[in-house]
Amino acid sequence: MRIYAVINQKGGVGKTTIDVNLGYGLAKSGKRVLLIDLDPQGHSTTVLGDQGAELTVKELFESGSKLGIKELAQPARVHGEVVENLDIVPSNIKLAVSAENLAARIHREKVLANALEKVKGDYDICLIDCPPTLGVLAVNGIFAADRFLIPVTYARYALDGVADLFGIISTVRETDEFNYTIIRNGYDSRTKTTNDFIEGQLEPFAANVAKTRIRKTETINQAAINAEPVFTFDAKGNGTADFEALTKEVVGLDA
Ligand SMILES: Nc1ncnc2c1ncn2[C@@H]1O[C@H](COP(=O)(O)OP(=O)(O)OP(=O)(O)O)[C@@H](O)[C@H]1O
Ligand SMILES: [Mg+2]
Repeated sequence: MRIYAVINQKGGVGKTTIDVNLGYGLAKSGKRVLLIDLDPQGHSTTVLGDQGAELTVKELFESGSKLGIKELAQPARVHGEVVENLDIVPSNIKLAVSAENLAARIHREKVLANALEKVKGDYDICLIDCPPTLGVLAVNGIFAADRFLIPVTYARYALDGVADLFGIISTVRETDEFNYTIIRNGYDSRTKTTNDFIEGQLEPFAANVAKTRIRKTETINQAAINAEPVFTFDAKGNGTADFEALTKEVVGLDA
């Protein structure tokens, strides 16, 4: 099982959008996929899981809890219908309290990595939807990941936080060597000056930038509002085309 953390401490850059749609695309391509919603906002869960679920990812972080991912994972559903090959460990706001308690425990940063180790034969790919903070939850994601998928948007300060993120990853992992892929999200061909600026900033990382750019596409947003992946909401649109291309690229990573 390859474990990819979708991470960026900047809010609203497309972590959940990528988690949900890449996860769906990978499952559709035949990979056995596990999504971990590691964000107390529970946005991935809103689309593919059950926010009211009794058992959520929080159980992993409760002291003395015997529950593992096998018990917590539920089949992903789109409007009630099970999605083949796709499981999700759901999250909701209660995770925020567990995270605070966890911050005081030893070996706290390895909880998720240890839990994933036990299901590594059950899935081909695990995607972790990280929260937009660099607290103990994100650190668990960082510890567990084989690769970081880092969404960046076409905005003036898009890359400022990436250097900080690299610093945190290096500290947590105790090495500067780690695998990552930057994913450009929200591309709009009309904003040429901005695009040139961001592409210029990305040049030093060129070897680690996904070829696929996710275009700014209103149906991606509408699909989220309608609590479904863009694949089912707008099968023939640009959003689906871009996520199909990204899926192929990600299948090829670490293959
Ligand atoms: N390519 C896109 N085109 C149009 N809308 C997009 C695109 N990517 C993301 N969005 C929209 O932007 C908003 C933020 O995206 P998303 O929730 O994926 O970001 P996030 O990084 O997970 O945010 P948070 O940091 O709060 O977890 C959502 O409303 C989403 O639908
Ligand atoms: Mg999110």
